[in-house]
Amino acid sequence: MQEIYVGLDIGSNTTKVAIAEERLGSEMVLLGIGEARSEGVIRGNIVNSDKAQKAVVAALTDAEKMADIEVKEAFIAVGGDRLRTFASRGITAIPKDKDVISSTDVAEVLQASRAIVIPPEAAIVDSVVREFVVDGQGGISDPVGMNGIRMEADVGLLMVPRSVLQNLDRTAERAGIIPDGQAAGIHGEGLATLTPDEAEIGVALIDIGCGTTEIGIFSRGTLVWAYSFGYAGESVTKDLTVGLSLPFDSAEQLKLDFGCALEKSVEDNEMISIPGIGGRAARSVERKFLAQIMEPRLEEILILCKDSISEAGLSNKLSAGVVISGGTSLTRDIVRLAEKVFEMPVRTGAPSLAGDVSDLARSPQFSAVIGAVLCASDRRHRIELMEDKKGLFAKLRKWFVKRI
Ligand SMILES: Nc1ncnc2c1ncn2[C@@H]1O[C@H](COP(=O)(O)OP(=O)(O)OP(=O)(O)O)[C@@H](O)[C@H]1O
Ligand SMILES: [Mg+2]
Repeated sequence: MQEIYVGLDIGSNTTKVAIAEERLGSEMVLLGIGEARSEGVIRGNIVNSDKAQKAVVAALTDAEKMADIEVKEAFIAVGGDRLRTFASRGITAIPKDKDVISSTDVAEVLQASRAIVIPPEAAIVDSVVREFVVDGQGGISDPVGMNGIRMEADVGLLMVPRSVLQNLDRTAERAGIIPDGQAAGIHGEGLATLTPDEAEIGVALIDIGCGTTEIGIFSRGTLVWAYSFGYAGESVTKDLTVGLSLPFDSAEQLKLDFGCALEKSVEDNEMISIPGIGGRAARSVERKFLAQIMEPRLEEILILCKDSISEAGLSNKLSAGVVISGGTSLTRDIVRLAEKVFEMPVRTGAPSLAGDVSDLARSPQFSAVIGAVLCASDRRHRIELMEDKKGLFAKLRKWFVKRI
């Protein structure tokens, strides 16, 4: 059986589309990837659908050409700076005449967990099961087949403002794509970048993009909490525009060419040339000066991540440390800076699918779009397993495969 999956990620800097094929129910092969400069997207939120849809069309066209496939539907990675997690609990009684808990009972308790009053302006993007509790016994990831009379599900509901989802759907539709499901971008990134061991013992995945930083805590093989805020690579570039009196595009280029997250790892006296503005001659500055501006801002972003994890009471869940992803994770020495802030091991995470064109997407900037493809596949397998009425969660783990 072969199945095509399409992911769409409308980011603050670029819009990405990935087309992949799942062969024989196992290997996911990348067929096409497209990327186009986004416009009308601020801190991951679409503020001008007309402009944003142009980038979707451009990225889609490139991916379609590469894959030689025409796309009609896509699974959307939801980002933005207002992703929040609400805890909820579903409870269901297992009928007395039943021997064991079935996948239908599981579906029922999950449905019950969503029956909470949510603010009218909020929408549920995604829900994640932290654990099941059967007759008071917690820590259960797969209750199917167990005996019990009362089952509870401890669930995290991931929410964004309703308008965020409406704008994403509208923009995709205007670009000729039918939205075929959605998940928080950071949820899919877990599938795309983490090893099963990391996700099992506990890890923080942090996507530092252009306009937003998203955090996902994974534990016992699943996402348990997610959060985002509106500072990332763009804030770093803006600091450089001020510190170096440069227009944004020149500062961005300097950041990419000479930037560093740690002042102390840049040699003294190394000079770089800075373009003159308004017809003035080029200047030269010490390369170290860039790092002096960048380090405090990146450190601030990482401290915000650390503090929000701590406020959520999840600092003790990070046995496997931290994985950073998103374009800003390409900054030289950001791993060392993050290790200093978190005082634990840090690595960068990037997607890695099979296929002739897969090298084109082996960058942390593509984690969310490849994650969307994997979420789409994951969802399909969930449905198949539900239909099979087999051990839903035990089987799902099989799909949480190492992708690096
Ligand atoms: N080599 C690099 N060094 C430093 N920063 C980099 C590098 N490459 C890319 N970036 C930064 O990464 C950011 C873009 O990353 P990414 O594509 O993940 O963002 P996005 O998905 O478009 O935005 P967001 O997720 O925040 O809405 C830009 O701010 C860019 O400056
Ligand atoms: Mg992004």
